Amino acid sequence: MPPGPDPPPAPAGGDPPRRTRITLSPDLGEKVARTRLRTILIASGKGGVGKSTVCVNLAAALAARGRAVAIVDADIYGFSVPRMLNAFEKPLTFGSRLVPVERHGVKLMSLGLFFDEDAPLVVRGPIMDATVRQLLQEVAWGRPDYLLIDLPPGTGDVAITVAQTVPGSAMIVVTTPQMVASKVAIRAAKMAATGDLRPIGVIENMSYFICPHGEPVEIFGSGGGAELAAELGVPLLGRVPLEAAVRRAGDEGEPIALHAADSAAGRVFGEIAARVEELEPPPARATSQDGPPGPPTLGGEDSGER
Ligand SMILES: Nc1ncnc2c1ncn2[C@@H]1O[C@H](COP(=O)(O)OP(=O)(O)OP(=O)(O)O)[C@@H](O)[C@H]1O
Ligand SMILES: [Mg+2]
Repeated sequence: MPPGPDPPPAPAGGDPPRRTRITLSPDLGEKVARTRLRTILIASGKGGVGKSTVCVNLAAALAARGRAVAIVDADIYGFSVPRMLNAFEKPLTFGSRLVPVERHGVKLMSLGLFFDEDAPLVVRGPIMDATVRQLLQEVAWGRPDYLLIDLPPGTGDVAITVAQTVPGSAMIVVTTPQMVASKVAIRAAKMAATGDLRPIGVIENMSYFICPHGEPVEIFGSGGGAELAAELGVPLLGRVPLEAAVRRAGDEGEPIALHAADSAAGRVFGEIAARVEELEPPPARATSQDGPPGPPTLGGEDSGER
């Protein structure tokens, strides 16, 4: 376990985890397909293109549309979602499971809920596997419609471990308009094949800046998102403008998709959420005649809550 105060409870099981390709729950992909849950990985080739910003705002916009949404911050070395949701309290446990914290109608589990933002995290390979598994599977998620997973940039160990832990999931690739960024992003999309993931769309972030005279200025060039989408054969889900208010809202933990839903960026996030619902429709809510619901958590057991 990494150093620092009160680490999350150790994963169940006696033997130390081995550094192998993990097959945590062989039928997990099938479970994901059967349950109400829609799991969507948010990936990118390069760092700093706005994955976490997109993840938080897409989650908030889906929640505003009445969906039950949860986020796993799988960027275990560089977590940033707790700040973007202003969520800092330590999660409680429910039996052997962690209870996610909730902000703006979005449930969250992140290593950042257990550590100070400036704590040095030393999570070596085998522990990393177990930590990722715990963040995904040992959590009493309840019955979310959508589980968004904020990945670290690129195709490193963590991203690959997550991809292999949730086979069958959808993946959205975030890029900037720069051609060089979209070329790198293709690598992340190709990682999808290692986990049997389905790329469903591209989001171009920081697409343009509206200058004080009202003119859009394409600071980071143009066309990268469309080019990447064409290359992957998926739709370009939206072009998010570069706005100081987006950055500020992220720093203050008030996602712009809720806080200023009528701003240019807020509207784009709302439109992206609607497109995501079209592409990955949330299954109809169970009625009393439907019989028992599918497994409500990635772990497969009914946690009994919500
Ligand atoms: N559309 C935008 N307008 C203005 N600022 C933005 C926008 N998108 C992201 N930012 C800012 O850019 C910075 C990087 O964004 P973010 O942390 O979401 O990127 P990331 O891809 O998750 O980074 P990392 O690869 O480090 O995880 C943050 O300060 C964020 O507030
Ligand atoms: Mg991030």
